[in-house]
Amino acid sequence: MSSIGSRQSRVLSGMRPTGRLHLGHYHGVLKNWLRLQQEHECFFFVADWHALTTHYDEREIIADNVWEMLIDWLACGVNPGLARVFIQSRVPEHAELHLLLSMITPLGWLERVPTYKDQQERLREKDLATYGFLGYPVLQSADILIYRATSVPVGEDQVAHVEITREIARRFNHMFGREPDFGDKARDAARKMGKKNNRMYMDLRRKYQEQGDQEALEVAKALVEGQQNITLADRERLLGYLDGSGVVILPEPQVLLTPAARMPGLDGQKMSKSYGNTIALREEPAEVERKIRTMPTDPARVRRNDPGNPEKCPVWEFHKIYSDQETRDWVWEGCTTAGIGCLDCKRPVIEAVQAELRPIRERAREYERDPEAVRSIVADGVEAARSAARDTMEEVRRVMGLEYR
Ligand code: TRP
Ligand code: SF4
Repeated sequence: MSSIGSRQSRVLSGMRPTGRLHLGHYHGVLKNWLRLQQEHECFFFVADWHALTTHYDEREIIADNVWEMLIDWLACGVNPGLARVFIQSRVPEHAELHLLLSMITPLGWLERVPTYKDQQERLREKDLATYGFLGYPVLQSADILIYRATSVPVGEDQVAHVEITREIARRFNHMFGREPDFGDKARDAARKMGKKNNRMYMDLRRKYQEQGDQEALEVAKALVEGQQNITLADRERLLGYLDGSGVVILPEPQVLLTPAARMPGLDGQKMSKSYGNTIALREEPAEVERKIRTMPTDPARVRRNDPGNPEKCPVWEFHKIYSDQETRDWVWEGCTTAGIGCLDCKRPVIEAVQAELRPIRERAREYERDPEAVRSIVADGVEAARSAARDTMEEVRRVMGLEYR
């Protein structure tokens, strides 16, 4: 617990509350989060306002899904002792930053985001010619920049949104990154590193600025980056003061591309609610069994004696995820020689999926029985998130000239 706030890399990601999560989410997103929470300071949030940008007329759906999704996260092992878990709308600072960033975001940037036109086409039945929908990437930028996140794990479809976040941050820093009292602040920050470090920092800075000594610059950067006990804002000041570039108020985040989910659906297409080919994380065992038993197989295997080709069968895709080499060899041999039947072939897959879901389902039950526990985890997450968000907003208001005394 104690190391949570002191780690240097900060990861942020959000998910829209669109319904019960399924194996596609688990293999595609959540397993990645579980790994990240071990290595980084993580913020994971339910993007309820984002859901409203497209589903503004379906409020019950969103309200139910928020808690269901949180239970699914926790049941999968998202650990509130390691990661902050919260709900976007509980941190209204996101909205304030969204508003302020909207002032400097050119319309053309938003109209060019590929998902803007795509989604309007795909969701034709909805009126998405709204201000909120166009501004969606600005909201997402605010979500990310308000935590000064260093990395944002997203899938391919979200890369353009992180890209525009970087552009907005750059524009913001360029416009507002020169505080009038920047030099004083930077020198104060240098003193906070202690007498010895302060002197070393100033010497290195002089060497770089007066003699162009690149190595001195690198050493000074390493010195600043190695400081444990200074704020992010001071760190940015110290780095900006070194090379004279000013201060980075909103650091540009990196995309952490999540490898495309390999989890196929029951019919061989990508697993997705809209295709109706999912296995939910809290699916009952009997239902898991039924869904897999009725999965389509290679159409060539009409009768038990007809040999098949695993490459033409969605069950084989499941074996690729769940089975070891020995089992896969057994499938390949048995299928192509009609040595095994399709139900025999599905048995190890059923077992493996049941084994994977059992602990998830059990943990979910505990949270379902104890909604207060979930609420309390979220309340703590909101508190931690707000505290980080407030710090950023103080800086943002100050540099934008909104601090009246
Ligand atoms: N737009 C993302 C999606 O639809 C969800 C999201 C909102 C998000 N804000 C974010 C993801 C910030 C990463 C970072 O999936
Ligand atoms: Fe598919 Fe297995 Fe049947 Fe072959 S034996 S068609 S791989 S289910």
